[in-house]
Amino acid sequence: MAEISVELTKTPKAKPADEHHLPFGDIFTDHMFIMDYDDGQGWHDARVVPYGPLPIDPAAMVLHYGQEVFEGLKAYKAQDGRILLFRPEENFKRMNVSNERLCIPPIDPEFMIEALSKLIEVEKDWIPSLEGTSLYIRPFIIATDAHLGVRPSHHYYFVIIVCPVGAYYPEGLNPVKIYVETQYVRAVKGGMGYVKTGGNYAASLKAQHEAEEQAYTQVLWLDGVERKYIEEVGTMNVFFKINGTVVTPALQGSILSGITRKSTLEMLRHWNIPVEERRITIDEIAKAADEGQLDEAFGTGTAAVISPIGELKWGEKHMVINNGEIGPISHRLYDTLTGIQWGKRDDPLHWTYEVK
Ligand code: COI
Repeated sequence: MAEISVELTKTPKAKPADEHHLPFGDIFTDHMFIMDYDDGQGWHDARVVPYGPLPIDPAAMVLHYGQEVFEGLKAYKAQDGRILLFRPEENFKRMNVSNERLCIPPIDPEFMIEALSKLIEVEKDWIPSLEGTSLYIRPFIIATDAHLGVRPSHHYYFVIIVCPVGAYYPEGLNPVKIYVETQYVRAVKGGMGYVKTGGNYAASLKAQHEAEEQAYTQVLWLDGVERKYIEEVGTMNVFFKINGTVVTPALQGSILSGITRKSTLEMLRHWNIPVEERRITIDEIAKAADEGQLDEAFGTGTAAVISPIGELKWGEKHMVINNGEIGPISHRLYDTLTGIQWGKRDDPLHWTYEVK
C-alpha cells in the first residue's frame, strides 16, 4: 500500500477547555484520514487532510441504499504519556466482516492500523487525559457511485474521524434503566444484525425514542422470530449474573460481536468466574428476578464500556436489579478494563497497542 500523505490545517481549532464536560460525539478534531477506492485501481490515495465536508454527489449510493459500514474504538492517554489503543486489530477484522456482508472491498487490517496511527500522531494533542475520557475513533466506509440502480458501488471512501469524549451515557457508571422491546425488532438471522452498519441503528431509532419518552435509557431487543430470546441492548451487548454464573446471548448472526463483549468473556474466564454463551429467554430473566437469583446485569460496548443495568421493564413487569446499584462484577470489570485501557493496570491478556 502506498505512503500516507499529510496535509496540515492552516486554521487549527481551539481544543475543549473543560475535560470534565466532554459530550459524546460532538467535537471533532482538526484532521481526518481518507482513502479512495475505484474498481480496477483498488484502494488508493491514502491521506491525512484537514477535517471538513466530503465531496459527495447527491446520487451517491450510500445516501439512497445505505451501503456503508463503520467501527468504533478509542485511543487513551496513559499517565506516563503513552498513547494506547484497545485491541484495534479486532475492530479492523470486524470491519472486513461487515464489508463482506455489504459487498464492500476489504482493506488490510494492518494498513488500517497504520492509517489510524498516522492520524493519531497528528492529533495526539486532542487526546484528553482526565480519567474517564478518551479519543473516540470512528472509521467508516461509504459507497460513492452516483447511481440509482440497486447494486454494489464501484467507488468508496474509507474515512477515519476522531473526537475527544467523556462517558456515553449521562448516567456514567450509575445503573441505566432499560426497556424490553416487545413491538419492534432490530434484526433476524440471515439479515445484517451481526454487522456494524448504519441501517441497524436506523432500525432502532423509533423504539429508542419511545423508550426515552418513558424515561428509559435504551431498549433491550428480543429475537425477531419468537420474540422471547434476548439479543442485545441499543448500543451494547448484554450480560446477566444468575445464581453465580455470568450469561450472555450466544452470537448467532443477529447480534453484534462486540469487542468489549469478547474481552469481558475472556477476562471472566481468566478470573475463573463461570460464564455461558447461550440462548437466554426473557422469561428466564424474569423468573431469576422473582426468585432473587438475578444478581447483576450490565451492558458492554466501546462507547459505553461497562454499563450496569439497574432496572428492566418488560410489559407491566419491573425488575429492579441489585437494588438499582452497581454490582461487584460490573465494578470489577469496569475498573479492570478501563485500568488496562488507561495503562494503569497490568495487561495480562495483552490487549493494548501502543501508538508510537
Ligand atoms: C461503539 O460502542 O463504539 C458503538 O459503535 C456504539 C455507537 C453506535 C455509539
